[in-house]
Amino acid sequence: MGDVAQRTEALIERLAAAGWLTQASIKEALRDVPRHVFAPPVAWTGEGGRVRKRSAPEAWLDLVYGDDALITQLDDGATDLAAGAGHFTSSLSASSTVVSLLELLDAEPGHRVLDVGTGTGWTAALLSRLVGSENVVSVEVDPAISERAAANLKQTDVSPRLVVGDGARGWTREAPYDRVHATCAVARVPYAWVEQTRPGGVIVTPYAPGFGSSHELRLVVMPDGTAVGGFAGYASYMMMRKQRHPEWDPSGRPAERTTTDVDPRTIGYAPAGADLAMGRRCRACAPGAYATATPTPCGSGGRTPGPAPATSPAASPSRSSRAGPGPSGTWRCRPTSAGSPTAVPAATDSA
Ligand SMILES: C[S@@+](CC[C@H](N)C(=O)[O-])C[C@H]1O[C@@H](n2cnc3c(N)ncnc32)[C@H](O)[C@@H]1O
Repeated sequence: MGDVAQRTEALIERLAAAGWLTQASIKEALRDVPRHVFAPPVAWTGEGGRVRKRSAPEAWLDLVYGDDALITQLDDGATDLAAGAGHFTSSLSASSTVVSLLELLDAEPGHRVLDVGTGTGWTAALLSRLVGSENVVSVEVDPAISERAAANLKQTDVSPRLVVGDGARGWTREAPYDRVHATCAVARVPYAWVEQTRPGGVIVTPYAPGFGSSHELRLVVMPDGTAVGGFAGYASYMMMRKQRHPEWDPSGRPAERTTTDVDPRTIGYAPAGADLAMGRRCRACAPGAYATATPTPCGSGGRTPGPAPATSPAASPSRSSRAGPGPSGTWRCRPTSAGSPTAVPAATDSA
């Protein structure tokens, strides 16, 4: 098989040149836990043909060390990956989005990290390199995927704790955490993540409100049980189970047609904040209403290299939701107005 070290260096160079990757510790982690260890034997980006490790090892490595997400599961495992059609429900995320979220996380040696959405185990392995295996707990909702991640991790010298359970509940047993890192997108930030993070700790998650683009959300937890932060860029990820948006089927749905003077290009090319404000407004005026975005395989998108774009939605803070745009370009996460935050039953530990 071709030179993995060379391919890793080339990947690091490309990510750095594009502005995704600046931190030396993340570069080191990429060298220490090579991506191909976590890649499926039949690599498929969700488009085009499948490339088999056995019959085309060089082409397989090229794909693995490119910057595409590789699909590892369809329809929560109900459809065989070879079938070629289905909803993408797990993947080895694209390198650029992985490093982009890791840079935002700013994890340091010794930090306790909760990783949500183990998938192939690659991000759990990278985090283990950054903070030490003993400090990483990675939660995956799908037992079969967690099992495969465990097998992948056995080929490395890191050993994060793997847990099978609903990552929305966090993992109380080893809380509090310094960092929460999610690689499945949420439309509502689970309050358990705030509860299980120490004041000053950081939560980084893809945020997909169901309108327009998906965003990288970075929150800092406050001593009063809230979390405040902003949007650093785009990040397209698979949705967390239970938070998936319904399929959009316009047939038979009540609809209203209106006209506007707004040039669609002003919306199409508007900054991220416009998306967020509109998404918020859609839900505020018509609960249950939503708009679709073009689905993309997990892990595409990512932060625009360079200064983070403005993220200030003009809408007022939400009254009862757990996340709502604040007046100064921040996003605030707090318990619902209904009272205490959701109870956090422990997930099942499979490790
Ligand atoms: C894009 S993949 C994660 C990629 C992974 N970090 C990697 O490096 O390969 C998203 C994963 O989130 C998992 N997931 C979805 N909902 C979840 C939940 N409620 N709790 C934990 N994991 C969840 C999916 O099963 C899927 O494996």
